[in-house]
Amino acid sequence: MTEQLPPEALVSRAAQLREELRYHNHRYYTLDDPLISDAQYDALLNELRAIEADYPSLRTVDSPTQRVGSAPLSRFPKVQHPVPMLSLGNAFGPDDLNAWLERVQKLLPPNTPLSFVVEPKIDGLAVALTYSNGVLTVGATRGNGEIGEDVTANLRTVSNVPLRIPVSGATPPERLEVRGEVYLPIAAFEALNERQAAANDKVFANPRNAAAGSLRQLDSSITASRPLRFFAYAVGPFAGIELTSQWQTLQLLREYGFAVNPDARHFDDWQAVLDYCHAWMERRETLAYEVDGVVIKINDFELQEQLGVVGRDPRWAIAYKFPAREETTKLLDIGVNVGRTGKLIPFAVMEPVEIGGTIVQHASLHNADYVISRDIRIGDTVVVKRAGDVIPYVVGPIPAGRDGSEQPWRAPTLCPACGQPVERLPEEVDIYCVNADCPAQLVRTLEHWVSRGAMDIVGMGERQAQQFVEWGLVRTIPDLYRLTAADFAEREGYAEKRVENLLTAIAESKSRPLERVITALGIRGVGSVGAVDLARHFGSLDALAAAGEAELTAIEGIGPNTARSIVDFFATPANQQLLADLQALGVRSAADAAAQPLGTTLAGKTFVITGTLPDVSRDAARELIEANGGKVTGSVSQKTDYLLAGEAAGSKLSRAQQLGVAIIDWAQLQALIG
Ligand code: IVH
Repeated sequence: MTEQLPPEALVSRAAQLREELRYHNHRYYTLDDPLISDAQYDALLNELRAIEADYPSLRTVDSPTQRVGSAPLSRFPKVQHPVPMLSLGNAFGPDDLNAWLERVQKLLPPNTPLSFVVEPKIDGLAVALTYSNGVLTVGATRGNGEIGEDVTANLRTVSNVPLRIPVSGATPPERLEVRGEVYLPIAAFEALNERQAAANDKVFANPRNAAAGSLRQLDSSITASRPLRFFAYAVGPFAGIELTSQWQTLQLLREYGFAVNPDARHFDDWQAVLDYCHAWMERRETLAYEVDGVVIKINDFELQEQLGVVGRDPRWAIAYKFPAREETTKLLDIGVNVGRTGKLIPFAVMEPVEIGGTIVQHASLHNADYVISRDIRIGDTVVVKRAGDVIPYVVGPIPAGRDGSEQPWRAPTLCPACGQPVERLPEEVDIYCVNADCPAQLVRTLEHWVSRGAMDIVGMGERQAQQFVEWGLVRTIPDLYRLTAADFAEREGYAEKRVENLLTAIAESKSRPLERVITALGIRGVGSVGAVDLARHFGSLDALAAAGEAELTAIEGIGPNTARSIVDFFATPANQQLLADLQALGVRSAADAAAQPLGTTLAGKTFVITGTLPDVSRDAARELIEANGGKVTGSVSQKTDYLLAGEAAGSKLSRAQQLGVAIIDWAQLQALIG
């Protein structure tokens, strides 16, 4: 049968789809900065596939349907994968899974016994690690499946990627390529974005992009500063060992010292597979990393071979994808909040949409640059994402859905709270209200001061902050400590008992430890983690206030931007006044008294902690080491002075033995400190 001539409309639609897909491919793979959701991308790709299936003459050789992924970045050397790195077909419900099983059964001799391995599908990026005689020699990204990027130096910084296998010290395989997923835990992703936003750097759309962006840094010390993790789930080419099944492979990888996902399971019974998949729908919410589905694999390698591959998708495996936590809706308006530092923060007002059981109407737009660089227009159809506890945010617009009525957003020139002109510093993407008396800033400052991570004043929150400012009771932070019962006489909602509790809570906050006071000051770039480092290093606000940029940047975790903003903060007369007032009111001196001076017994010594310690958590052990001037790192190297080992110490212990690092237990550590 010869193909009919495709209608004009389809010819141009196919061309349009190709162009859009190419653009989104580039954003996703090369820039690590996608504008649309995976589901949205799949919808476009499927539409193009359908057109090409009906009219094969429209299928150009360079059509995005003809390959998955895009050209690797040119800045890393390319690596040709000796065996292509495959992708996976998708199933979206039990019907799809049953259909997959039926296809598998049809392709195999009748009644072939089947067993299955089910693994969480980690939402990170696939990499291949080549070990020659047990030594990690090459680490590459998947790239387009055929050619990836050589990111060996960066992969070496991923703390649970073994640099040498097996961990037991037994004879290594001659050659082994281990494949798996590099990912960024959700908490680390959020912390990273917070830091990025504070430093006016790029904010990542999701943990996967953050992981990809982190792994493709030309400066591997940046990669090292991001707590990436690795799960091994497959092997590429190997020599010198024998492997016959997926389950056996996972066991061997684990023995070799790789992290293998603890939730991988082996089933002989198909119903058990379906039940396990179903149970995962809720399970996913409880994990520290993002899982976008589960992967079901036929266990036996010989059967895998028989089933083969179509295009890029193996017939012997399928991904059961969870429902997306992304939806599309209409962007009705862009509002602007004024933050604590005066930063104008745009937010989306949208047609209400249900995402994973919650109605969402407002979403974050991060900052002005985010809106402008993504060309998010009022009236656009936008993709909104909600995951875990993160505030829902707009991923980006769907330009294809525009009808011309959409309005580009104009960043405000006046502060929406106080009406004063706003400022935009030449090098910065953000816009600031620089009016020191802006009431919105004061409310935010107060809100931050009393918040749980800062001074933790129970009974105070957004509403009270707003009221106190409105009533003229609080014009500066020190005013909070000057409040008396008389200020609340006859105020609605402030009965005697409540006022008493509130004033007690305020008074109690005067004795918060130094790191909380530093956090509460709200210095740009200094969050609760940085505050702990600063408190440990300086021991008092006076010492911190006297520090110069050079001393500050020498502290791990404090970059040049943050150092500058700390110095600026303490150089500002209004802030000097603030500190003097706080001290006079008894806040600051309390803070200094509570701060522990830094010991020096362990100065210059680097520790690694492993295993379960008796009676103390590893965090507590780390704090003790750091309080005595020592440093704690995540992996054993030549630079490690001591390995503090507890019960069931694993790979770090053997590595320390290999390198001849001193191994001590908890009692010995205490003896060291005296
Ligand atoms: S198997 C069959 N197993 O999913 C060969 N992939 O959509 C494909 N992924 O590129 C890999 N967790 O990045 C496999 N347990 C797992 C996985 C997994 C995450 C990713 C991987 C792959 C993509 C395919």
